[in-house]
Amino acid sequence: MKHLLGSSELNRAEVDRIMAKAQQYVEYQAANNEKLRELQGKRVLNLFYEASTRTRSSFRLAAQALSAEVIDFAASGSSVEKGESLRDTVQTLSAYDPDAIVIRTPHVGVPESLTQWTQASVINAGDGKHEHPTQALLDLFALKQRIGSVEGKHVWIVGDVAHSRVARSNIGLLNLMGATVTVCGPPTLIPRDIETLGCDVEYTLDRVEEADVIYVLRIQRERMDEAFLPSESEFRRLFQINSSRLAPHQLLMHAGPVNRGLEVDADVIDCPQSMIIDQVRAGLVVRMAVLSEVLR
Ligand code: CP
Repeated sequence: MKHLLGSSELNRAEVDRIMAKAQQYVEYQAANNEKLRELQGKRVLNLFYEASTRTRSSFRLAAQALSAEVIDFAASGSSVEKGESLRDTVQTLSAYDPDAIVIRTPHVGVPESLTQWTQASVINAGDGKHEHPTQALLDLFALKQRIGSVEGKHVWIVGDVAHSRVARSNIGLLNLMGATVTVCGPPTLIPRDIETLGCDVEYTLDRVEEADVIYVLRIQRERMDEAFLPSESEFRRLFQINSSRLAPHQLLMHAGPVNRGLEVDADVIDCPQSMIIDQVRAGLVVRMAVLSEVLR
């Protein structure tokens, strides 16, 4: 695998390899304090045109854990603020010969375009509302660690599906791994034809007790105007996941950052069924595995 642009491009063998590698890294890190030398001499460019806490820091740590060099670029504070284009920025930083470029961008399709402008492997760290494949992979890894396999499990993805690259990447990957997916939210936040990705649609939480896993999506206020939500209090009343809606047999996931008290209530964020911190932890080893895979 030269690039990782979307979970829809992954096949079962590639996913199994990434999961197995991530598990090896978990075991290695439990037994050793030393870095692995697997990517010694390789250079990873982190190119972030959107805010990030988890993805950016975990890609940096992942590259360092494998002894790669990291160039950390954030658009804010760079010559982008003087008007330098993405293509010029990539060509400029390509002079440092990166072996992999990890890109986050608000624009759909930019990671794919990037593959035409550079010799480096390209990893999509989120492009607009399109794909966030390493998030779906780390979610899968966290789930496998908790329940062994997702085959035959039913995952409900609840909330702002319309703006969610996390939802799109997870629907594809969960289907590939034999899970059933239902998306749920108000009609304004469910894209038309989302079923074609391989999921059912519900517009109420009436049947949410069917779910083995409830994956709550962040309300992406930065990508919407008021027209998408009648009101936040109405959304809370109808779709918020809280202790009255999370049954004891169900797991709770959220990619973060969380709008506490909006899409998910504080009373479940830190409960034993919550996998939110497990997901963050999985991000490191899964991104190590992805870097290893594309730079093999
Ligand atoms: N889940 C996720 O992508 O988080 P960040 O925006 O903090 O990277």
